[in-house]
Formats: sequence, C-alpha cells, structure tokens
Amino acid sequence: MKVYVPHDTSSLSLGADGVLAAIVEKNPDLKIARNGSRGLYWLEPLIEVETDTGRVAYGPVTVADVSTLFDSGFPENGSTHPLYLGPVEELDAFRRQNRLTFSRCGVIEALAIDGYKFEALEKALKLSPQEIVDTVKESGLRGRGGAAFPTGIKWQTVLDTKSEQKYIVCNADEGDSGTFADRMIMEGDPYCLIEGMLIAARAVEATQGYIYLRSEYPNTQKILRQAIDNAYEAGYLGKKFDLEIRMGAGSYICGEETALLESLEGKRGMIRYRPPLPAIKGLFGKPTALNNVITLASVPFILSNGAETYKNHGAGKSKGTLTIQLCGNVKYPGLYEMDFGISLKELLYDIGGGTATGRPLKTVQCGGPLGAYLHESQFDMSMTYEDFAAQGAMLGHGGVVVFDDSIDMAQQARYAMEFCAIESCGKCTPCRIGSVRGVEVIDKIIANTDRSQNLALLEDLCEVMTDGSLCAMGGLTPAPVLSALKYFPEDFGLLPKKEAA
Ligand SMILES: Cc1cc2nc3c(=O)[nH]c(=O)nc-3n(C[C@H](O)[C@H](O)[C@H](O)COP(=O)(O)O)c2cc1C
Ligand code: SF4
Repeated sequence: MKVYVPHDTSSLSLGADGVLAAIVEKNPDLKIARNGSRGLYWLEPLIEVETDTGRVAYGPVTVADVSTLFDSGFPENGSTHPLYLGPVEELDAFRRQNRLTFSRCGVIEALAIDGYKFEALEKALKLSPQEIVDTVKESGLRGRGGAAFPTGIKWQTVLDTKSEQKYIVCNADEGDSGTFADRMIMEGDPYCLIEGMLIAARAVEATQGYIYLRSEYPNTQKILRQAIDNAYEAGYLGKKFDLEIRMGAGSYICGEETALLESLEGKRGMIRYRPPLPAIKGLFGKPTALNNVITLASVPFILSNGAETYKNHGAGKSKGTLTIQLCGNVKYPGLYEMDFGISLKELLYDIGGGTATGRPLKTVQCGGPLGAYLHESQFDMSMTYEDFAAQGAMLGHGGVVVFDDSIDMAQQARYAMEFCAIESCGKCTPCRIGSVRGVEVIDKIIANTDRSQNLALLEDLCEVMTDGSLCAMGGLTPAPVLSALKYFPEDFGLLPKKEAA
C-alpha cells in the first residue's frame, strides 16, 4: 500500500506538507510517494492511496482531517469518510479529458527514475534525425508557447543549418497570467520533459540543452535539479547531450524567445531583430531549437504512439490536445487536457461550473495578458487556433482567466497598458512610450476629460502600437484594451451601466 501526497507547488501552498507530516505521525510505517498534481485544484491537497483493489482519492484534505480519516479506516478503507472521492479517473472532470501529454502527471512518483521507461527515446534512437523531424511534422504539433508555429518545421531549419555546435533551449519562463501547465508537468513528470529534450537533441543534432526556468518557481527548480541529477546518474544525460537549468530574470519579456536568448547569454533581456531566426542564429550565434515545455513534453507521446494517433485528436489545423489552464473566478479551476475543438461555453459552464462567487460570468481573457477579453456572445466559438484568430482572440499557452460581473473593464484596459509599460524592454518607441501614454489617455477617458477626443487618441495610439511595435509585447497590448472598449463600453462611461446582479 502506498500513499501519494503531492509535492506540486499549489498543493504545497494549500498545506500538503503539513498533511504529510500528520499522516506520518499517525502511521510512520506507511509507504509515501510524492507525486505531481492531478490538476483538479479545488480538491488539493488531493491524497491518493494505492491498495490491492485500486487507487482511490481523498480531497481536499487538511491537517485537521487526518485524524478523522484514520478513524474511518484510512488508508485501508476510508470510503465512508466525507472526503472520499473514489478513483480520480472516474471523476467527471477527469473523464471528459484526453490526457496524452499529462497521462503520467500526478499518477507516478515524480522523481522515481526506475519507473520511467524512456520508451519514446529508445524508438527515436532507432530513427535518423530526419525521420524524427518528419514524424513531428506529420503529427501536426504546433508550439504551445503562444505563437503556435509548427514544431517540425522549426526543427527542420535547425537540422538543415550546419554547425559544430547546436542548442536545445526549453522555454520554461511561463509568464502568462493564469498559466501553470509548464510548472505542473515539470513537477509531476520531469522525465517526460527531459525525454522530449533528448529526442529534440537527436532530431536537430544538438549536444547542449538549457531549461530557462521562471525565477518564481523555486520548488520546480528543486525537483528538476534532482530529476536532472538522476538522469545523469542513470546515463540518459552526459553521453551525447548535457542539460542545465538557468533561472529566469524575473521579467515577462524574457519569455519572448529572442529576449530569453539574450538573458541566457547573461545580458539584459532585450528583443533581438529578426532575421536571423534563432533556429539559424540563436544562442551564442548558433542554431537553436527553442521550444516551450509543453511542446517538448508532447514529443514522447508522438514518438511512442505515432504521428497518426496524435493528429487524430483535435480539429482542423489544430492537432492534438490543448492543455487548458482554467483559473480566476471559476468554481472548478484546474488543468484540463482536451482535444482542440471543445466550445468555450462548455469549458466555462459545464466543466468549470461558472464563477466561484456564483455571480454572472462577465468575461474571460485567454492566451495571457496580451489576449483579448471575450464577451458572452463569443462563448460559442470552439477552442482552436483558427476559430480564436477569426474572433481576434488567441489561445496562446492555453490560459483561460474568468471574471464575474464585479470586474471593471476600464480598469482592466488601463492595467493592460500599465503592464506593458512596466514589462516593455524599451527597444522601440511605440511600445515604450505608447504604453505610458495609453495609461494617461485611459485615465482621462475614465475621468470624462475630453472623452471623445481621448477615445480617438486611444484608437490612434493602439493602431500605432499594433503596426509599429517590434515584437508582440507592444503589438498585442491593444487587443485587451480595444476588446474591453468594444464589448464593455458602459465601464468607460460611454453607455449607462447595466444593473449589477
Ligand atoms: C512577450 C512574450 C512573452 C512570451 N512568454 C513566453 C513564455 O513565458 N513561455 C513560452 O514558452 N513562450 C513565450 N513566448 C513565446 C516565445 O517567444 C516563443 O514563441 C516560444 O517559446 C517558442 O516555443 P514553441 O514553438 O514551442 O511555442 C512569449 C512571447 C512574447 C511575445
Ligand atoms: S514591442 Fe516592447 S517589448 Fe517588444 S521590442 Fe518593442 S519595446 Fe521591446
């Protein structure tokens, strides 16, 4: 019998370590395993027990619950306890998912390397670099970091660029609001990422890799370091490929790939002009395959199960699964890995259960702080790259942040400009100056100072930022601003306010 207590950052923040100590105090002989989260965050800390008849869960468990759990027969049989959930796989929120990339996350003991098979790597080692690239191309995998660029094509460019030294860089800066999928997989299934990087290295003929890790993830750093040490000891790393972690500089812009490369080289995180592409001239001027954590962690499934199996999931040109991170003011926040194509409405109401406060749901922001705010009238659209783009929205890294009707959209628009002003790298004028002016102009609109002139000014300013910015930071900041203005004009004083519920 084994008791699983998650070591995932969110579970720890909800008291998982205290629960573990209380369980051990009650029965020091129990076998304990530290796993990642299953991603059902309203149930964390979620404790699971593996018995001879199967694996069952309890949650959310607090330190105070531990005594009553043991009183009701835990861990052998606690099914009469009110926190008893039964098998996680049978919970409605889980049954509706298609866990391909996250199939092991939360299930396995995260750092037990003996239990991780590296089967996909074994397959990859029997293929030529070109065959691996072809498999990834065939799967339809697109980058999960935000831009959704086809991964196979990026790898082809790196493979075709001749150089004695090539790099794999994993973008684990995870700066988008409401996102946590990268962290979850790194804490719950770290060898999956390492395996994905090893396969990428073979595909593009790279010998050195770096994981550029968000500086606000100290727990992930600890787990990843241990996983890398274990992979060296087991001989997966250190022969043909070396892997190191580099801590991020704590700035949103360092998630953008060229700023990340500058930061990785020890410089200030400033955007680089393109061309040359990082795939041709990347880290230290060498060809570099730079990919998001989820992109790389999707590769082992593709190699193990075949490109065809992967691309049979999804809809249209959005192949495979999307790791949706549902959060904000929502009843059932968590990680939902689902085929592309589910409707936003189904996600928000059937799966997410509406708002946590029970108030009407006013808007959602998808794809991070540069994503448009969506209005109820758009909730029927399906979650594919194409449908979102058609509505001026973006899926980005899969974050979906929910707001109820108490949110003031004029303040959210102001916040978008303020965020850009704080995070701008400063290299180009439309973004550096435009965002500061944007805050001032929105303040004037809110205060009803020359409102119509300032509205016209804001629209002009947004046009300049969209068309004239060097990168997506300044180029996309107008999206949340203009969508807030378009769909919620009453919050800017342009229409009478609707009665709050
Ligand atoms: C302002 C800005 C911030 C970004 N932040 C991240 C990030 O935190 N993580 C990430 O993977 N990609 C981020 N990206 C996207 C990267 O530039 C890049 O497209 C991505 O890491 C490439 O990997 P992929 O092809 O696997 O998606 C950001 C882009 C911009 C413009
Ligand atoms: S748009 Fe902003 S973040 Fe991007 S290069 Fe220009 S100043 Fe830097």
